[in-house]
Amino acid sequence: MPTPSRVEAPRRRSTGEPLPDRHLLYTAAVQHVALDLEHLEEIYGGGRRRRPTLLREDFCGTAALACGWAASAPDRHACAVDLHGPTLAWARRRRLPALGEAAARVTLFQADARVVTRPRVDVVTALNFSYWVFKTRRALCAYFTAARRSLNPGGMLLLDAFGGNDAAQALVEASRVAASRGPAGERIPPFTFEWEQVSFNPVDHALRCHIHFRLRDGRRIPRAFSYDWRMWTLPELRETLAEAGFDDAAVYVQDWDDAAGQALASYSRRDRFENQSGWLAYVVGRVAR
Ligand SMILES: C[S@@+](CC[C@H](N)C(=O)[O-])C[C@H]1O[C@@H](n2cnc3c(N)ncnc32)[C@H](O)[C@@H]1O
Repeated sequence: MPTPSRVEAPRRRSTGEPLPDRHLLYTAAVQHVALDLEHLEEIYGGGRRRRPTLLREDFCGTAALACGWAASAPDRHACAVDLHGPTLAWARRRRLPALGEAAARVTLFQADARVVTRPRVDVVTALNFSYWVFKTRRALCAYFTAARRSLNPGGMLLLDAFGGNDAAQALVEASRVAASRGPAGERIPPFTFEWEQVSFNPVDHALRCHIHFRLRDGRRIPRAFSYDWRMWTLPELRETLAEAGFDDAAVYVQDWDDAAGQALASYSRRDRFENQSGWLAYVVGRVAR
């Protein structure tokens, strides 16, 4: 989740330029592919003889992680699965050409992640909380079962989750995002990313959220992305992974620097931790070797 920061005042009015592409802004604001790949490799097990080569990115959106995976080594292949044709078309048009020869190692599938089980892979990812779209235990278990059936011996399903005292309430957090470049070198201007939790229902854990973008010239892209989720708890996720046949279900929590009072980039496996205003975790289901 974004780090809260002061909401920035608009500097100047619109120049008549077209608004930046919302997928580019999303990637710059919330996706950290290099870090995710680093964590994935550490969690998979750096000391193992066999390194993972086959990855499936479920709920892939524009397939940023799948593309990063294929680009990371010539023996790495990725599948990327999403229900939404136009978003996959964006990935095909904007991301794959910039990958060069690695593009041949990325396959995009338009499908419900609950029905895909082949080809078998070493790692399945479902990041940025996208599996929270499943609102019942039955639907969640169907997804986890499909993911388990997709894995080679020793494989893992990597999920992320957030929680803490602030997670279950209405709020808006704003963070500045510096100028950057898109997959084909496109200029992404600096902007402010707003994460809005509209409502949380303690009865069914329904969480409704929006992402808004605000440009430095004062223009906004309100509700660029909206989410209608169930906020799953860590014990529910571990129990459902076990129900779906995973041999191990572990939680890796983002480390915290007490002295500096800030989150670190690393994650550690934990069986307990003190609740905080906000925390981020990976939840990992493993299949035995
Ligand atoms: C929050 S985006 C995730 C984008 C990307 N994975 C990330 O890490 O930021 C959620 C995506 O899940 C897709 N989606 C929703 N339900 C799905 C399902 N049952 N199977 C596959 N994709 C689904 C949506 O089309 C959307 O592109």
